[in-house]
Amino acid sequence: MALPLREELRGIAPYGAPQLDVPVALNVNENPYPPSDAVIADVTAAVAEVAGTLNRYPDREFTVLRTALAGYLGHGVTPSQVWAANGSNEVMLQILQAFGGPGRVAVSFAPTYSMYPEYARDAMTGWVVGHRESDFALDVSHALAVLKEHQPSVVLLPSPNNPTGTALPLDTVAAVCEAAPGVVVIDEAYGEFRREGTPSALELLAKTPNLVVSRTMSKAFALAGARLGYLAASEEICDAIRVVRLPYHLSAVTQAVATAALRHADELLARVDDLRAERDATVAWLRSLDLQVADSDANFALFGTFEDRHAVWQALLDRGVLIRETGPDGWLRVSIGTAEEMAAFRAALVEVLER
Ligand SMILES: Cc1ncc(COP(=O)(O)O)c(C=O)c1O
Repeated sequence: MALPLREELRGIAPYGAPQLDVPVALNVNENPYPPSDAVIADVTAAVAEVAGTLNRYPDREFTVLRTALAGYLGHGVTPSQVWAANGSNEVMLQILQAFGGPGRVAVSFAPTYSMYPEYARDAMTGWVVGHRESDFALDVSHALAVLKEHQPSVVLLPSPNNPTGTALPLDTVAAVCEAAPGVVVIDEAYGEFRREGTPSALELLAKTPNLVVSRTMSKAFALAGARLGYLAASEEICDAIRVVRLPYHLSAVTQAVATAALRHADELLARVDDLRAERDATVAWLRSLDLQVADSDANFALFGTFEDRHAVWQALLDRGVLIRETGPDGWLRVSIGTAEEMAAFRAALVEVLER
């Protein structure tokens, strides 16, 4: 029997960055540092504590975690202005479920995060993509023209951007929010990796009612395996998302693990400083090879350009180093790993370029 699959899903392969077993995996912007013994001990104790209550559904409003996330974000954000789900992927899908839908449009500007069109498709929302400039900045007049023409109910702007690493200036964010007829999501999945002096859109939250700042514990908090993403926005926006969330979407185990990890924010953010330094060194090293490298406020660097980027990607993989073939034609993206992993990346790339 032919499955009654939605027409627009026919022939589409599921999302899949290759999950290969390689010595040096620098392809999905993970944090390379596993949790410390102190984090493991605290997470284990927290899970043990909730284990005895798993016959009950979890706190639907994840009050303890929300309060901890609001405390972490600062900027006057209250617990009722925080929403969380299983990864910021789910948070943003919920935003499209609440604010998108048939007859509506979501907008972003390429190169942009590859999952956005999938959220739009899954929420049956139209998808329109403008462009960024050659240095990956967003030209405000172009952005405003796209908004005027398409009147999107949702705008999705990663800052720092994936795959380029580019952060948006606050005046750009403010101009887009002012012109947008709907909600504007500034996706700060890599927010903690910003360079000194690069501001967070959280600074605009109090005076910008249609602004949503999305964050994740997958990157800075080294918690990709736990799946915890969250946002800060007005109470009205959080309440609207509540309508579309599945009942008890955030398990008691997830809530316990994330709350325990947040108690170690200082230690985990110190690791982020190491990664930022490693990122800056990687960007400088790649430039010293006369490669183009996008300025990065994230835990990865986009570099190029190569006539045959696939050949470079494959030759690195043959040497045990997995990076990502993504972004505009000719560019490659490398996630920032440990000092040892980056040394292996450099050695492999030198070999490949010398060929
Ligand atoms: C820009 C951006 N947003 C969101 C995500 C999703 O992260 P998660 O669902 O793990 O929170 C990613 C993951 O790589 C990303 O690059």
